[in-house]
Amino acid sequence: MYSKQEEQKLIHDSQELLKQLKHDKNFLLQSGNEAEQLRKIIRYHEWKYYVQSEIAITDFEFDQLYDLLKRTEAEHHDWITSDSPTQRVAKGLTKDFPEVHHLVPMLSLDNSYDAEDLNDWDERVKKIIGEADRVGEEPDRVGFQNRRGLSEIEYCVEPKFDGAGISLVYENNQFVRGATRGDGSVGEEITTNCKQLRSIPLSADFKKYGIHKIEIRGEVLINKNSFQKINEKRIEDGLPPFGNPRNAASGGLRIKDSSEVGKRGMEAFLYHISVAEDEAGNDLLASGGIKSHSHAIEILDSLGFKSPRKEFFIAKNIAAVIDYCHQFEKRRENLPYEIDGLVIKVDKLELQKKCGYTSHHPRWAIAYKFAAKQATTELLKVEYQVGRTGAITPVAKLEPVALAGVTVSSVSMFNEEFIREKDIRVHDKVLVERAGEVIPYIVMPIVEARTGVEQKIIFPTHCPVCDSKLFKPETEANWRCINYSCPAQVSERIIHYVSKDAMDIEGLGEKIIEEFVAQNFIHTIPDIYNLNFEAIGKLEGWKEKSINNLKAAIEKSKTQSLPRLLFGLGIRFVGETTAKKLAQQVNDISEFQNFSVEQLQAIEDVGPKVAVSIHDFFHDENNLKIISQLKEAGVNTQHTKTESAMDGKLFGKTFLFTGTMNMKRSDAEEMVEANGGNILGSVTSKLNYLVVGEDAGSKLAKAQKLGTVNIMSEAEFLKMLE
Ligand code: IVH
Repeated sequence: MYSKQEEQKLIHDSQELLKQLKHDKNFLLQSGNEAEQLRKIIRYHEWKYYVQSEIAITDFEFDQLYDLLKRTEAEHHDWITSDSPTQRVAKGLTKDFPEVHHLVPMLSLDNSYDAEDLNDWDERVKKIIGEADRVGEEPDRVGFQNRRGLSEIEYCVEPKFDGAGISLVYENNQFVRGATRGDGSVGEEITTNCKQLRSIPLSADFKKYGIHKIEIRGEVLINKNSFQKINEKRIEDGLPPFGNPRNAASGGLRIKDSSEVGKRGMEAFLYHISVAEDEAGNDLLASGGIKSHSHAIEILDSLGFKSPRKEFFIAKNIAAVIDYCHQFEKRRENLPYEIDGLVIKVDKLELQKKCGYTSHHPRWAIAYKFAAKQATTELLKVEYQVGRTGAITPVAKLEPVALAGVTVSSVSMFNEEFIREKDIRVHDKVLVERAGEVIPYIVMPIVEARTGVEQKIIFPTHCPVCDSKLFKPETEANWRCINYSCPAQVSERIIHYVSKDAMDIEGLGEKIIEEFVAQNFIHTIPDIYNLNFEAIGKLEGWKEKSINNLKAAIEKSKTQSLPRLLFGLGIRFVGETTAKKLAQQVNDISEFQNFSVEQLQAIEDVGPKVAVSIHDFFHDENNLKIISQLKEAGVNTQHTKTESAMDGKLFGKTFLFTGTMNMKRSDAEEMVEANGGNILGSVTSKLNYLVVGEDAGSKLAKAQKLGTVNIMSEAEFLKMLE
């Protein structure tokens, strides 16, 4: 897509503009040409980040360039082009998505499950092609050696992405229409939402290949990382988590508020050209303009689309396909996104044409499905868990069943509505699915298997732990126990407070906390700092050494940072990121008592619901008492304000830590961020510093090979911050 030189030039031009912005943050571009040049720069960074998954500048720098373009275009409307990166902006609420007919129906794929299926399919393909050839006038062409026996056929193998199907149409190099798969013939028009996905170019130079009009097929995915984050956020917001990334992506494409679409971390992989015409309307797929599937992928890749290129394999014959499928299955979990198998396609389009289609699938392609991640089992009973905010979660206890390598005996059913919607009953046979690292969940009950012994699930009206009456605010999905002293809530609150990402008190495990709560040693968080160690010493399993360790861990937690404390207090909707943003606003936690809801809402990351929750928290007598008791116990409640990240010592610099270090990695990373730096996930040309501990491995080797990364020890890193 970009040559090394082009990349260097674009990065250089970016830095020049950033320098000017540093000098004068209101500076504007002076001509339409300059604006076009900046659009090229921004498109390059979008491609680098969203298609290549690498970065060439920091998010902050990208935002500055984007803002420069926006400000310039606002002054000169006539300089705006329809494919400007600024035109990805959301257009308010979509009422509904009109129906659109795909230019060519989006078909399904036939499935195969083992080598035998694949060999059978290969035989069928060869037979059809052989027959087609005998009917045809010309005897012997691509893929054939002679008339007596068919030689091997070349196949492409690529991932079968487990997401939501899309079709994109470009005309005259411009993106004109995006659609969901729908029923295959008719989908929903989702052009505006597609424009929110930065891996989909708003324009691409198809003319370079003589293409005037093109329809491309692909799949929108959410990678495992983003998926986990979305679900954590949903749980924080009191919403049921998505069962799997596929549902989250398919729902994400149809979000009515297009400004929300970009927040789901969706990315589009394009793997098929279904229509390609030149200006005169000639079919380039038939005329040889595009010769093969691998050629199509090459074209898409070269024009800046995300394609299966990284995981693409061209096999000389079916034996090589089978080999690759077996190997790939083992690597499956290492991919950043979910796949449910591989797709094998006849490479040459000429041969594809001979194979043709059934009404349901192309004969020239087949899916190779990986081992099932679904199983059926019996739902034995339902238990109700009380969370730290009092939310009641129904948990299905199952007859243990093996699912993709693990035994599952218990799955969350999230809330009452989940049970109602699916009409799940006790003693039902249920279909359970586990996709990748995703938590297992119940897909549906097998209604046909009911015998009459199944019982409707009756949701409790009282807390299963403290027996107080449950409440359910209208806007929420969960019933709640609102007794703040409910032992279950107390335990959960303490468990959260001491957890690794919060105050990190080692040695206070879940079982111990539950015991301490049951023994009345702990009622509230500050009780941790006034434990009666004499009484603890009398409990079974406690010796002098374990008591001393616990004392030391508790003592150490007093020096934890304010973001950790804020997160640890378990304020509803305040996750780690929000806690960091909040901490930056104050010198001491007590200042939050003076923040109005509006002031809180002005903080990045804090929406109306979160603002109200924080406000309520800091106006609650109980909570204020807890905070003052923590202060009294000597827990750090202060934060050194980082003036602005831009003034930080490490501003604009990127870091990565590798190997075993003396310091905890999360602490080191926090230090970088507090000083305006960024943490990268891997060694790329954009990495400035690699800090190496003991036994550093491949990352160190890669950085040495690159030659552009500053490699330093932990001590040198600390010195840098002095
Ligand atoms: S090719 C005529 N390639 O799987 C073209 N499909 O279960 C047929 N899918 O409807 C599709 N990854 O939505 C193709 N690499 C891939 C794919 C893929 C995922 C989806 C596609 C299809 C469904 C069939």
